[in-house]
Amino acid sequence: MPAPPPLVVTGGAGFLGRLLIDQARRTHSGRRATSIDLVDHPDPTVASVVADLAAEPGVLAPLLTGGPATLVHLASVVSSGAEADWSEACRVNIAGLISLIEQCRVSGHRHTVVFTSSVAVFGGEFTASPTGDRTKQTPTSTYGMTKAIGELLIDDATRKGFIDGRTARLPTVIIRPGKPNLAASSFCSGLFREPLQGKVCLLPVPVETPLVVISPQTAVAGLLALAELPGDALGAMRAIALPGLSVTVAQMLDTLERFGGPEARDLVELRPDAGIAAIVTGWPGRWDDHRARALGLPADDTLDTIVTQFTPTPAPEI
Ligand SMILES: NC(=O)c1ccc[n+]([C@@H]2O[C@H](COP(=O)([O-])OP(=O)(O)OC[C@H]3O[C@@H](n4cnc5c(N)ncnc54)[C@H](O)[C@@H]3O)[C@@H](O)[C@H]2O)c1
Repeated sequence: MPAPPPLVVTGGAGFLGRLLIDQARRTHSGRRATSIDLVDHPDPTVASVVADLAAEPGVLAPLLTGGPATLVHLASVVSSGAEADWSEACRVNIAGLISLIEQCRVSGHRHTVVFTSSVAVFGGEFTASPTGDRTKQTPTSTYGMTKAIGELLIDDATRKGFIDGRTARLPTVIIRPGKPNLAASSFCSGLFREPLQGKVCLLPVPVETPLVVISPQTAVAGLLALAELPGDALGAMRAIALPGLSVTVAQMLDTLERFGGPEARDLVELRPDAGIAAIVTGWPGRWDDHRARALGLPADDTLDTIVTQFTPTPAPEI
């Protein structure tokens, strides 16, 4: 079997980045993997470049000259963070991606680039139900807007032959270990993670809110599988909805109760937050992921299997 291309993971020290590098190296032992992140990768056996990619895109250059590489672009300002700071969201999520594509373009090789988008590219009254790969992007948040622009940049750079791009539209990834983060969907992990450890979780949205979720293990397996698909399998529209489970918050609470008993469910307190609700309730509830499933991308079986896989190890402190 030929050696897999070297892996470059922006945001490699974050939640999904750590898991992805770990999984890639387990699948192909000895695979070269480099993390580029604002913070050092905690595993000293992983090559780690500490840099703000949007400010110093040149750090990519030496990693792109040796031959075609696989880049997984995870570095991003996340949802509530983007809503709070439009300039930073545009700088990191849009200008940072343009710089990454430009580094690839001038490198002399056609690299495979996997960009991580989100259900947040959809929203509001125009979101079709179910929502799929042919649904028009109608973001109702700054985060979603930056991801929608990223999807278009990836399609165009692929069309121009600068990169071989792919975009994964990731459902909300649960259960993130450690502390809550700035994602508007942070409570989706919190409502399992906190009560299962005897802690209170505040629920900012109504229980009937629909959500689309994926486990961290399936998300990173999907990103790695997407990198290996022949580009032709995706056609000109490179954005693909990774397989997700369509659930409501009420169903998540029922699952929590099955695992942790009524005392765990009692630790979830409804505390409406209009800002978060405005973002999250606009996201699609019914997810058409048939293209990804037909291409063999991995999927979770049930919410129960996701909860079973959860181990409350600390998340990155960022
Ligand atoms: N986790 C989810 O539920 C989810 C859902 C949909 C999409 N996504 C997307 O997946 C990607 C990874 O998500 P995550 O949950 O691992 O996020 P995370 O916040 O845990 O990790 C992101 C990493 O990017 C780094 N980073 C941010 N700005 C940077 C910059 N300018 N230069 C270099 N590094 C920078 C951060 O330091 C962090 O380590 C993101 O693009 C996110 O938008 C995540």
